[in-house]
Amino acid sequence: MAGITLGRTLLLCTLLLWGFQVCCGAITVKVSPKVEVNRGDTAKLPCEYSGTSLDDIVVTWYITEEESDQRKRVAYRKTSGHHESDPESPLFGQVSISEDFTLTVTSVKPSNQLTFYCEVTAGKDGSGEASTKLEVFVAPQKPEIKKPSSQAISVGASSSSEIGTCTTMNGFPAPRIIWFKDNMPLPEVKDKKENTYMVPSTVKEASGLFTIKSVLYMKPTKADKDSLFHCTVEYSLAGEQNKNIQMKSEPMKIELHYPFEHVMFDLLNATDVKEGDDVTLKCATDGNPQPFFDFYKQVQNEAKKMEGAEGLLTLKSVKRTDSGNYTCIATDFELDEKSAYKILVVNYIDQMSVTPADPKSVKLGDKVEWQCKTKASKPHTVQWKKGSTVLSQDGTLSIESVTYENAGEYVCVGAVSDVPGLTAQASVNLTVTGQPQIENPAFGEVTKEGEEVTLKCSAYGYPSPKFTWKPSAKETISREDNKIVSTATFEATADIMAKGVTCEVSNEYGTDSKTLFVKVKRADKQQGGPSAVVVAVVVCVLLLLLLVSLIYFLSKKTTMCSKKDKQEPASSNVNDIVVEMKSDKANEEAGLLNKKVSTEQ
Ligand SMILES: *[C@@H]1O[C@H](CO)[C@@H](O)[C@H](O)[C@H]1NC(C)=O
Ligand SMILES: *[C@@H]1O[C@H](CO)[C@@H](O)[C@H](O)[C@H]1NC(C)=O
Ligand SMILES: *[C@@H]1O[C@H](CO)[C@@H](O)[C@H](O)[C@H]1NC(C)=O
Repeated sequence: MAGITLGRTLLLCTLLLWGFQVCCGAITVKVSPKVEVNRGDTAKLPCEYSGTSLDDIVVTWYITEEESDQRKRVAYRKTSGHHESDPESPLFGQVSISEDFTLTVTSVKPSNQLTFYCEVTAGKDGSGEASTKLEVFVAPQKPEIKKPSSQAISVGASSSSEIGTCTTMNGFPAPRIIWFKDNMPLPEVKDKKENTYMVPSTVKEASGLFTIKSVLYMKPTKADKDSLFHCTVEYSLAGEQNKNIQMKSEPMKIELHYPFEHVMFDLLNATDVKEGDDVTLKCATDGNPQPFFDFYKQVQNEAKKMEGAEGLLTLKSVKRTDSGNYTCIATDFELDEKSAYKILVVNYIDQMSVTPADPKSVKLGDKVEWQCKTKASKPHTVQWKKGSTVLSQDGTLSIESVTYENAGEYVCVGAVSDVPGLTAQASVNLTVTGQPQIENPAFGEVTKEGEEVTLKCSAYGYPSPKFTWKPSAKETISREDNKIVSTATFEATADIMAKGVTCEVSNEYGTDSKTLFVKVKRADKQQGGPSAVVVAVVVCVLLLLLLVSLIYFLSKKTTMCSKKDKQEPASSNVNDIVVEMKSDKANEEAGLLNKKVSTEQ
């Protein structure tokens, strides 16, 4: 029963289809159902047919007008070759129909997005048609995000606040806007009863392109204070691979107002404050914007008002008396007060006090001692220094038996190690008095007798010693560190060459004298110096070469021996023979050496 019914249905369907074909002619027309093209490009709408062998065929392309839904001819072509495009059609000038009946549309614009019909008429064989949709694409401009013109957004408002507007212009077809908060997409919500929703709008421009807007509304919380918002526009272009392209706007931060919960009051930069510093105390809250601040200093149970500005309290060149308890009071819009305090400690170090304070004059060999101390707000060090040398760490500087080298300036440095830069220093001068001492003098040198020679005599001693040259000469006095130097010029007479010159020094504590000799510097001596060096270098090099060759010879001998041992199983080879000969010789030598050793024993 069921089989028969199915058979009947199939037969009916076949009859119907056959009937349809007859009714519409036997011509089959084939077109692409859809042709995608970007604005400005050229679209090709192919049209093929089958089912006739007649020569006289007309292929006509139509469009349907958007409003009237009526067909309008665009162009036609006969197989004879005659073709024309309709001057009244909105596509006139843009279209042409080629020999294979393809309709070409140049410089495509959004208004060309239409349904095109290709109709084939073949006389007695009837006619056929098919439709193709031309889809036009235009990339929109980069989306722009704008803050609302009204002032900042407040946390805790009763209704959602406008966060921003995202606009993208001149796209086709109308693209889509997606909002993001911190790079997370926000679901598209249009219900204004929700906390977060978007109000979209679309404008069709005269050009046929679409400008899309989306206004985002939210009830932000304090957590959103640093949130970054952006929007993307999602659009498509011609071609399967060019779908759902996303283009990002610049990010936007919102100006969010929220009340403060805590007040912070602290030093802006420094951690350790010392006398003379400029100190800035900064008061801030965790709210936005910052409220008004008042500053006070606690002075003997009384709050003394201080002048601050925009949360900063600046104290110029602070003194130890500026130490104390400072308070900052923040007052919010509801006149609620909250405060914070900061104990300011101004570190200090007093001047170094040195006893005895006067410059000291000590006799050569006597003892000298100084004490140095100070007071500071924190533990501190005291060092005695001469130049860069540290002599003592405990404030006492004592020298058991002074020498002339001990004379000079001593500096006592106090420092609070916890506070960089908090130092003080004082200096004392030590003068060592005593009989003069002449430093061992250098020889004077002349190239020949009778020439002039300049001699130097340098001596320690305080008070500054007087110099006496024998034979007498005109001297020039200069100072070098603790020494006094007398420089005099003589004619190198035979007498001076033989006996030298005497330099005598004296002050109230005694005298000293030394003889300065004058020598003739020999010309060959000057050459002899360097030539001797050359000879020495040559000898050294030769010895080294000898040593190297010896080591080389010995090492070769040992490697040959080991090589022979290793290579014994290998087959004969010219190199092997040479090696064996050599090693035999080496063995002989070794034997000889052994013999020698044994005879010696
Ligand atoms: C704090 O220190 C920074 C550099 O560390 C400096 O640029 C700034 O000027 C300082 N501020 C004050 C108020 O001293
Ligand atoms: C500093 O003063 C404030 C009041 O101005 C007070 O509450 C606080 O206890 C004081 N701090 C100290 C350590 O004395
Ligand atoms: C110590 O002597 C130097 C010069 O040698 C001088 O500049 C300095 O002022 C003196 N110091 C004292 C404390 O007298």
